[in-house]
Amino acid sequence: MTDNLPLRGKVALVTGAARGIGRAYALRLAKRGADVAVVDFDLHSYKDYQLEAASMRGDTVVDEIREIGMRALGFQADVTDATTLNEAVQQIVGEWGRLDIAICNAGGGVGSPEETRASIVEKDLVDVVVARNLTGTIHTCQAVAVPMKEQRSGKIVTVGSQAGHRIADNGGYAHYGAAKAAVAKYTQYLARDLGPFGVTVNCVAPGYISTGRLAPILSALGDAQLLDDVPLGRYGTPEDCAGVIEFLSSDLSDYVTGAIIPVDGGLTYS
Ligand code: NAI
Repeated sequence: MTDNLPLRGKVALVTGAARGIGRAYALRLAKRGADVAVVDFDLHSYKDYQLEAASMRGDTVVDEIREIGMRALGFQADVTDATTLNEAVQQIVGEWGRLDIAICNAGGGVGSPEETRASIVEKDLVDVVVARNLTGTIHTCQAVAVPMKEQRSGKIVTVGSQAGHRIADNGGYAHYGAAKAAVAKYTQYLARDLGPFGVTVNCVAPGYISTGRLAPILSALGDAQLLDDVPLGRYGTPEDCAGVIEFLSSDLSDYVTGAIIPVDGGLTYS
């Protein structure tokens, strides 16, 4: 008989989990039996998007995790601030005794495709996007590496993007693509560093994932044109991404490390 709670007894941290794909990660890990701590600089960020707000089943994802029956902690913190992140990790380990899984999901782009072409993107936009995606990921990984090294076990997953591997036809979002490519490469360095401690480190690289925030943007860009490049012929869902996160968080992936796994319907490599 298969165990429906493969993560029973595990403690997880998910950053950027107040809405969108990160929220799906947090809920999936809880449904598989993990206690889940979430970090987001605004635990009510779902209110910015009507479709995200409509999907909520509690005031925050913290309430939703508890509703599933698992323990939850919520931290309103910015991953670009290493000090508060370290304090959050110390509190998780202080209260729950361990930390087994870390999903470094907080991130995203800023700016329009036109203003973010490689030859003209301004320093301010570059700094924000590199801090949010690359520096925030490094801070999170370094904070969780402390207890994981001590335990001599752990599963870290970073979040890249198809944009880190594939250049958009319009040439926009150069700063975001460069930052996500760096996240993927950092992941591989970290896998080398933490392998001897029994910690796996992998990266997921989502394609076009239809969230409450992104669905209207994708439609405005042109669904038919975008989907023409996707062999599976549809946008991904947060649940599609959560399935891969579940695999990378469980013992099914114990011999997988340093991998960059596209979750993109074939967009990047076909
Ligand atoms: P989203 O923008 O809807 O949600 C991101 C969440 O992270 C928000 O709740 C926000 O408040 C939080 N956040 C952002 N910066 C933060 C920071 N510095 N500290 C703490 N919290 C922060 O994003 P979405 O679409 O759910 O994407 C999640 C991740 O997946 C991001 O890293 C994004 O770059 C990546 N991704 C998304 C794709 C998509 O199609 N939606 C495609 C490829 C990658």
